[in-house]
Amino acid sequence: MGVKIVDTALRDGSQSLIATRLTTDEILQVAPLLDKAGYHALEVWGGATFDACLRFLDEDPWERLRAIRKACPNTKLQMLFRGQNILGYHHYPDDIVDKFVEKSLENGIDVIRVFDALNDVRNLKSAVDAVKRWKEKFPRAECQIALSYTTSPVHTVDYYVDLARKVEVMGADSLCIKDMAGVLLPETAYELITRLKKETSLPIELHSHCTGGICQMTYLRAIEAGVDIIDCALSPFSGGTSQPSTESFNYALKGTKYDPMLDSDLLDQAANKLEKFKQKYLKNGTLKVKALGVNPNILKYQVPGGMLSNLMSQLDKQGAMDKYEEVLKEVPRVRKDLGYPPLVTPLSQMVGTQAVMNVITGERYKMSPKEIKDYLLGKYGQAPAAIDEEVREKILGKDHPEIITCRPADLLAPEFEELKKKYKKIAKCDEDVLSIALFENVAIDFLKRKYGLVAEEFNVSL
Ligand code: CO
Repeated sequence: MGVKIVDTALRDGSQSLIATRLTTDEILQVAPLLDKAGYHALEVWGGATFDACLRFLDEDPWERLRAIRKACPNTKLQMLFRGQNILGYHHYPDDIVDKFVEKSLENGIDVIRVFDALNDVRNLKSAVDAVKRWKEKFPRAECQIALSYTTSPVHTVDYYVDLARKVEVMGADSLCIKDMAGVLLPETAYELITRLKKETSLPIELHSHCTGGICQMTYLRAIEAGVDIIDCALSPFSGGTSQPSTESFNYALKGTKYDPMLDSDLLDQAANKLEKFKQKYLKNGTLKVKALGVNPNILKYQVPGGMLSNLMSQLDKQGAMDKYEEVLKEVPRVRKDLGYPPLVTPLSQMVGTQAVMNVITGERYKMSPKEIKDYLLGKYGQAPAAIDEEVREKILGKDHPEIITCRPADLLAPEFEELKKKYKKIAKCDEDVLSIALFENVAIDFLKRKYGLVAEEFNVSL
């Protein structure tokens, strides 16, 4: 049995290179080909796709999922699920998490990859329990738990092995090392995967990014250490800030004991179609040439590629591009002060904005975004390492509210039924209610357009 491949072109590839702008129409031209190519799974939903559908593409993300499911009867469909943040940017109540898991499975998802930005396992529990519970109704459901990979004095191989043991006990069906920044080095991957294979019995998947130019080396060492599944993207949406190319790994491993056995002809056909879309996005400026290059700076600053472009646009808007290097140097400092959070959504945006504010104002923590204040109050869960107490006091002030030490969602009341009642005129099904629960006005505006409603037709206060 060779190495299995999950193709991410339709989710992470699109998210990493073209800000998740691939349309359902484009996806459906490629999906039936990928469905027959022999993949372990296709990552097609979750992450930023849901938000992008509602906000930018004027598409119903649920309809997209059903359409992909119909186009792919043979291959497992996978989604990325941000633990208690679901597909949004803050914590939601448990009943919303549960309903979202149910509806994701019902509309066509097989594998739910759950992660928490801080690796606080309490934030995974509700989603993991939901998948396990809904497995009775949808037996094909699989719960994969992803460990957010980062580097810091606390994020050692021992730390991740220990975490892996915990998530195995929680009931994960498989484990993913999610290296969203592409900073996992080849030898560390070899050591980590070797230890994980020895000390857990779960299938192991590796997810990394090519941003720093080392990902293919890392994958090969992981394969030699026995990794079961690797995340790749069909060539037009591979490389740069995305995953390594699927076809290249299929060729590189051909005839070896690791042979992924994918159908090259079908991959070519799908790649030809995707290439056309890629050219369109290059021409209209959505795909930046910079995103396709190699950026070893991410290894120096340990900053994900998406965050680099985000910082650049923040500085550009403020006419402060000359501060770019200084901000990059500030990021590791902010991370240390905040207890080394991994830089993944939403923490990457929060830490980035704080670093920009520190540099622009010329004084550390003179200004802080609200989300950073919430983080310091414990509202995102437990930081991986101790938070600098002087920094906490400077940001929150001396008389700050009590810091939360329980699981943050324990403080959130159920809200599904209430939302359903409140928005009964625009939410025609439970899926619509979930869209509103996650993206509020963005979803409400979308549903108004979708159902051709004008404000007077539904008498609710928005
Ligand atoms: Co990724």
